[in-house]
Amino acid sequence: MRDRITFILNNQVEQVSGIAGDTTLLNWLRQTRGLTGSKEGCGEGDCGACTVVVARRQADGTMRWHPVNACIQFMGMLEGVSVTTVEGLRTGGAGGNMQDGALHPCQQVMVDHHASQCGFCTPGFVMSLFAAWCNGEGLEPAEIDTTLAGNLCRCTGYRPIVDAAASLEVRAIPPVFERQRRETEASLMAAIAHDETVCLTDGRRSFTAPASLDGFLQSFAQSQDVTIVSGATDVGLWVTKQNRNLPNMIWTGRVRGFDRVERRGAHWRIGPAVTHEAAMSTLAKGRPDLGEVMRRFGSAQVRASGTVCGNIANGSPIGDLPPMLIALAAEIELVGPASNRRLSLDAFFIDYGRQDRGVDEFVSGVLVPVTPTPLFRAYKISKRFDQDISAVLGAFNLTVSEGRITSARLAFGGMAATPKRAAAAEAALTGAPLELASFEAAAAELAVDFTPITDMRASADYRLQVAANLLLKYGLDVTGAPVPRLTGAGLSADDLRAAAPGAG
Ligand SMILES: Cc1cc2nc3c(=O)[nH]c(=O)nc-3n(C[C@H](O)[C@H](O)[C@H](O)COP(=O)(O)OP(=O)(O)OC[C@H]3O[C@@H](n4cnc5c(N)ncnc54)[C@H](O)[C@@H]3O)c2cc1C
Ligand code: FES
Ligand code: FES
Repeated sequence: MRDRITFILNNQVEQVSGIAGDTTLLNWLRQTRGLTGSKEGCGEGDCGACTVVVARRQADGTMRWHPVNACIQFMGMLEGVSVTTVEGLRTGGAGGNMQDGALHPCQQVMVDHHASQCGFCTPGFVMSLFAAWCNGEGLEPAEIDTTLAGNLCRCTGYRPIVDAAASLEVRAIPPVFERQRRETEASLMAAIAHDETVCLTDGRRSFTAPASLDGFLQSFAQSQDVTIVSGATDVGLWVTKQNRNLPNMIWTGRVRGFDRVERRGAHWRIGPAVTHEAAMSTLAKGRPDLGEVMRRFGSAQVRASGTVCGNIANGSPIGDLPPMLIALAAEIELVGPASNRRLSLDAFFIDYGRQDRGVDEFVSGVLVPVTPTPLFRAYKISKRFDQDISAVLGAFNLTVSEGRITSARLAFGGMAATPKRAAAAEAALTGAPLELASFEAAAAELAVDFTPITDMRASADYRLQVAANLLLKYGLDVTGAPVPRLTGAGLSADDLRAAAPGAG
């Protein structure tokens, strides 16, 4: 077992040892390395001022550059990767031939478009642009809001920033300095790759990053008071916001094969380290609504680190994926020293903070049926369109034969202590004709199914009303009425105006 991590920082090899396992990348960059270009705004993944770019080799062997919130990234998660901070752009990075001190194109466009005032948010925006520029995607006008949704600016206003992004030239063949930077990055990453378990510790708090399943099971079994970490987009906040003491963390993110999405018979199997970004295209295939909710899941930074299994394992009643996956009849796999079992996802959630998972078990995968689900729909209601947790999420799935509903799966987030199916509403729909009146009758049953709470996101009355409205919207949608959508393939603004009462 190695007691140090090895990674690439701005195209130079770094080794770090003897630090607490819960040290965040942002604190280390700023306090230990004096790299203060990355800022701390919120310390909880919301503002993007701390964005850096992490390059990882994907399961298919290609390289991808991820925007990452350094404030909730633990140092142990860097084993073997390449990190670029805003300081690494200024010099073009070691191996690049940009003139020392020259601005990178992602910085120059911000200057050219007057896209910075106080400058606090600017390094974060630049790094989000840099990730998109490296990947050669996300810079079309229709995509820029999504690319930058995880970066907040409080003084410039977004128009000049969006203009700057839109002006960035993304070339299929990158400029020479960038090709050289990537070659150096790739060869350094190859040179430091290894298969040993790594454990970063100061003797009081440890972070273990095993490379194999055996290593993971061994470290998991041997550790006392252990916390499993996947993307740390929840666990990171336990440290930075709740000051929780996590003596031993063990990370799924480096285990060989854990990042795999694969076909297993009638299911897609999503491994424990598969991020939202990596899972999105598979899960959303033929289910545009699911893709739309995932696009609004956190931000590019959160989707690049946060995992599908982490969203389920945390047991939150307002997680976005569980209700959608329950409506799709997904299953979950759990593995421990003496167990290897599979259960339906709705059975996994027992009560608030309680899931059907033994202390020695971990979530080893999620199984999502491949079967087409043409009547699947999902609607997310949150206070803010992007980068916000749901107040209520409704996910619905029907099978219909000869004009009658033969089965109904209606699942809600934000309505109970767990993500939960609406049993009475489902019963009202099953066997009923596929017509709006059936959905009206089912919507009335939601008051039997749920007694929601009032909290800062929504009142109990609002939640019940909005849940009923979502079911009615679904009824309209699947019975052929034109249903407005916020984005995606729905009615255009002109269509909506024409459909409004009194429109001529
Ligand atoms: C800015 C921001 C925006 C967000 N927006 C959204 C949003 O729009 N919708 C939403 O649903 N969530 C949102 N979240 C919450 C979070 O991103 C998700 O819940 C995410 O999927 C968690 O995954 P993770 O891999 O980061 O989990 P982690 O933080 O690593 O872990 C979460 C929990 O799951 C446990 N765990 C993780 N993996 C396993 C495993 N394989 N087996 C057993 N236990 C495990 C951990 O011990 C911990 O209890 C947001 C978070 C942030 C910071
Ligand atoms: S400091 Fe706000 S996202 Fe990291
Ligand atoms: S320029 Fe001041 S916060 Fe964005």
